[in-house]
Amino acid sequence: MNEEFSTARFSAEEAARIVRESYGGVVPQGLGVAEALYDPGEIDWLPESVKAYALGLGNPVRYASLKPGEVVLDIGCGAGIDTFLAARKVGPTGRVIGLDLTPEMLARARANQALLGLTNVEFREGRMEDMPLEDASVDVAISNGVINLSTEKGQTFREIYRVLKPGGRLVFADSVVNGQLPRAVLESEAAFAG
Ligand SMILES: C[S@@+](CC[C@H](N)C(=O)[O-])C[C@H]1O[C@@H](n2cnc3c(N)ncnc32)[C@H](O)[C@@H]1O
Repeated sequence: MNEEFSTARFSAEEAARIVRESYGGVVPQGLGVAEALYDPGEIDWLPESVKAYALGLGNPVRYASLKPGEVVLDIGCGAGIDTFLAARKVGPTGRVIGLDLTPEMLARARANQALLGLTNVEFREGRMEDMPLEDASVDVAISNGVINLSTEKGQTFREIYRVLKPGGRLVFADSVVNGQLPRAVLESEAAFAG
């Protein structure tokens, strides 16, 4: 990748620190993001503590054609909104693993899981660049507003390929940069994780 067009001006360690600080301290955002990205019928069963932490950029579950019994990985699950939507689609014979780097986000996600009483969901702490998952163990990987935060995107996609079963699917929503960003933006921690 051409470094001039990359957001990866931080080392992997610096990026992890910035992400943990930024998303660890994030406060509820109101319902605006959830209402913009999801139809009312998709999220009316979710508590406000899930919807107010929707921080994504799209609605990957809507396009993932999830089927009962499938194993789904939600990369950078945050407080769990897409994890829970996927869990409902795959049902009790399926399973959803929410992966996130930030312990505080995982604590929110696990509290939300307890509130919803979902038993087909599991949250794991880890980096998308080095996932704590077995090879060929996932039918569908989803992600929402996360891969842009990777300083090693090639490695992230290799990891996704590794954990997907043959014929597995990846559905993600994210932002892309079409042009060169000013150095001040590339070097800004707030712009990186904001
Ligand atoms: C913009 S939020 C999106 C959260 C969630 N997908 C949603 O739609 O609400 C980005 C999430 O990615 C996580 N994250 C950032 N970098 C990560 C990495 N390298 N590995 C795993 N998770 C990461 C953050 O902790 C945060 O929870």
